[in-house]
Amino acid sequence: MDRLQTESLVLEPLTRQDFPWLFALYADRDVMRYIGHGARTEQESRKNLEWLLAHGERLPFGYWVLRDRRTGEPLGGAVLMIRRDGAPVELGFMLAQPAWGRGLATQVARALVAHAFSNLAIPELQAFTAVENAASAAVLRKAGMRDAGLRPGPYGGLDRGFELRREEWLSSRQA
Ligand SMILES: CC(C)(COP(=O)(O)OP(=O)(O)OC[C@H]1O[C@@H](n2cnc3c(N)ncnc32)[C@H](O)[C@@H]1OP(=O)(O)O)[C@@H](O)C(=O)NCCC(=O)NCCS
Repeated sequence: MDRLQTESLVLEPLTRQDFPWLFALYADRDVMRYIGHGARTEQESRKNLEWLLAHGERLPFGYWVLRDRRTGEPLGGAVLMIRRDGAPVELGFMLAQPAWGRGLATQVARALVAHAFSNLAIPELQAFTAVENAASAAVLRKAGMRDAGLRPGPYGGLDRGFELRREEWLSSRQA
């Protein structure tokens, strides 16, 4: 996995040293309000993070820790992942509360869309947001993803789905 940068952030491939900070992030009810079944125990988070670590060893993408480019302080996490065999690559992101509302998620989503299509030549991306998660939907739209309407999400309920094919992204850049 490559280390990436945006205007304000560095995206660093996940390591086990990041686990304690991420356990706290995943335990925050407000951060997790629209993700899965809500706040996670350390045991649940560890299982998920070990899976993501292995994902990034198997494939050139997985989980990145988001850090302030100037101070190195951790601010969140983002993912490109294949949730199960045969599924399209899924984009996701989450920020600690002090980092909300500064345009950072938009920077991350745009950087990962560009990385996926330009460097990794991934044919298609998808993303899901809870129907009430207007901020996340706004981020995905700003990153150029197409609102594909309501559909069964990864956690069993009905979510808003977003899609983007590599050809669409390439032609939107030429326009
Ligand atoms: C959702 C989240 C990623 C947004 O990150 P962010 O860095 O605050 O988002 P940005 O600052 O890039 O801005 C997103 C856009 O959403 C808009 N927005 C923010 N909060 C909003 C709200 N409650 N309702 C509607 N729009 C909202 C912003 O105005 C902005 O659009 P604009 O630039 O046109 O004004 C962040 O709040 C978060 O991590 N939440 C918890 C985890 C989560 O829900 N992750 C997504 C799971 S799918």
